[in-house]
Amino acid sequence: MILLSKISEIRSLVQEWRQKGESVGLVPTMGYLHEGHLSLMRCAQKECDRIVTSIFVNPMQFGPNEDLDNYPRSLERDRELAEKEGVDALFCPQDGEMYGSNYQTTVRVQKLSQGLCGADRPGHFDGVATVITKLFNIITPDAAIFGEKDFQQLALIRQLTLDLNFDIRIIGHPIVREADGLAMSSRNKYLSIEDRKIATCMYTALQKARVLYREKGEGMPSDEIEKLAKATIEANPQCAVEYTKVVHQLTLQSMEKVTDDSVLTLAMKVSGNVRLIDNGFLAL
Ligand code: PAJ
Repeated sequence: MILLSKISEIRSLVQEWRQKGESVGLVPTMGYLHEGHLSLMRCAQKECDRIVTSIFVNPMQFGPNEDLDNYPRSLERDRELAEKEGVDALFCPQDGEMYGSNYQTTVRVQKLSQGLCGADRPGHFDGVATVITKLFNIITPDAAIFGEKDFQQLALIRQLTLDLNFDIRIIGHPIVREADGLAMSSRNKYLSIEDRKIATCMYTALQKARVLYREKGEGMPSDEIEKLAKATIEANPQCAVEYTKVVHQLTLQSMEKVTDDSVLTLAMKVSGNVRLIDNGFLAL
């Protein structure tokens, strides 16, 4: 595996592969790799001849009071893990390589960046859309793999790929969970031992909502599901709900009534500072 930090280097490597007729898969990450990230790499390997993983803690997607400076980083460990998964190139640019001192451009996916996490994190999805556009232009992959854990992010990236005519296949990968149901996340590292146990309440909320939907069926009011999820999470005094929303899987618009196209999306803060998200289809 080769480690590169310059845009010109990764461009020429990809060009070499292309000349040999090899296809390229991209797995964008912010590092501190876990099994969720590694499963995207395995998926990429099935789809493409060569795999590039990017590790870049993108400052543009962090708000002024968010965890940019504390975001967990561990390049040496990440390097070993990616190599074991058969990644061909790890692209780890410095901030200045991606955003020069006169940087001015932002990409915004108008509707999909609003609501849900977009409401709690203003500007976040403009940062995501911008860095993904840049990575797509730099690496020009045939396919790019993203996790369904960040459901709104995936929808937004599908839309920007369509809108900006990127000839890239976007592949969504199911959420990888810990044994007790907690969705894997680099941010789980911030949880104290006690909070880590409590954090499973989002998965419990999702499972309870699924049971209720199975009982009541299509056409049941979404707010019953939303209230049940909120109450399940907030049964733990350490957990504050940011949202529990039933949305349409494609538009991410709220739905008054639940259907098999409904996804329950969840976000909460644990002990005031660790923000976690989860989601899932209500129909299984
Ligand atoms: P990051 O949080 O590092 O996640 C990188 C990729 O891994 C994303 O596609 C995310 O959805 C996926 N992922 C994370 N946890 C997962 C899990 N438990 N199961 C399945 N997939 C999981 O998401 C980002 O970085 C950034 O916003 C990025 C897209 C790299 C742009 O900066």
